[in-house]
Amino acid sequence: MNESSDFLRACRGLPVRRTPVWLMRQAGRYLPEYRQVRSRYGFLEVCKTPELAVEVTLQPVDLLGVDAAILFSDILVPVEAMGLPLAFTPAPVLAQPVRTAAAVAALQVTDPEETTPFVLEAIRLLRRALNGRVPLIGFGGAPFTLACYMIEGQGSRQFLTVKRMMYQEPDLFRQLLDKVTEASIRYLKAQAAAGAEAIQIFDTWGGILSPADYQRFVLPFSRRLFDALADTGVPLIHFVKGAGTMLDLVRQAGGTVIGLDWMIGLDRARDLLGPEVAVQGNLDPTVLLGSRDGIAREVQRILTENAGRPGHIFNLGHGILPEVPVENARFLVDCVHRWSENRVD
Ligand code: CP3
Repeated sequence: MNESSDFLRACRGLPVRRTPVWLMRQAGRYLPEYRQVRSRYGFLEVCKTPELAVEVTLQPVDLLGVDAAILFSDILVPVEAMGLPLAFTPAPVLAQPVRTAAAVAALQVTDPEETTPFVLEAIRLLRRALNGRVPLIGFGGAPFTLACYMIEGQGSRQFLTVKRMMYQEPDLFRQLLDKVTEASIRYLKAQAAAGAEAIQIFDTWGGILSPADYQRFVLPFSRRLFDALADTGVPLIHFVKGAGTMLDLVRQAGGTVIGLDWMIGLDRARDLLGPEVAVQGNLDPTVLLGSRDGIAREVQRILTENAGRPGHIFNLGHGILPEVPVENARFLVDCVHRWSENRVD
């Protein structure tokens, strides 16, 4: 382990010089430098061209001073590798949604070095370019969230097609999750082997289920994924958007670090989770649309709620919005660093 990285130390619950901070979706449209690259190349083109993925991954590291880089890609990239054509409009569209036994059977579980070599090459190039400056986070979608897009074919407010399959054909639904889990294990192991120093699993839609259904349909697959990734030795961050008080179940599924949205106080979340696991979060992303005073106050509040407990990585409770002024994002990073260095409870 890179002993000097506050981010990696916080993942392990070790003492840090100051609270590490990075922002979900930190490489994105709020950055003029990102928009400049995107004016010349399509989103998937950037994902599939290692040199371009490296360039945009490094932008927030240079511009904001965050404590970790996150690979520029998308959770749906490995879904395309399973045989489903993918487009971004800019929202993702899978033109051949998976709704039948034949469609599930046709999905391929492939070798990531063959079907997504550009992802692994970007990771190798990034490790060289970063040269130990900050650690590199790899990522993937949780099996349930990937299955949501695969069944629905696009984002949705209620995911009725997903829920219909879940309740009408639970066995088929489980077969799909089974295959997605297997593909995700291979994909994320390959990322760690290529040099990712931590891995975040995004379960954006895990919170749309009741705790009972989360336990039946999500937890076993997420747990299999986390168990399989344990021997990579890298810290695993488990973010379930909308987990609410299901955090105990999220914890059971696995993760060295549990990601938190802003619907729960950090203090209450830590009480629910116990001292053994680190947490990441949990500023409401819209706070960055407000004033500096408001941002500073919210940073103070979250650091106070953590009360100096080891194992806290500061982040937003979801991705940064395209409307955020860059100087507010930079101010946030500075606030976290400044206030956590001279913390007074
Ligand atoms: O965090 C980072 O900087 C790394 C890059 C990253 C992207 N997507 C780039 C992206 C990561 C970690 C993701 C994860 C992702 N992708 C999730 C999980 C996190 C979350 O937000 O809940 C999900 C659900 C997706 C699927 C996805 N990709 C959607 C729904 C959209 C459209 C919505 C939007 O924000 O535009 C995307 C597109 C996307 N992924 C963009 C970026 C920078 C914008 C595309 C563009 O440049 O036009």
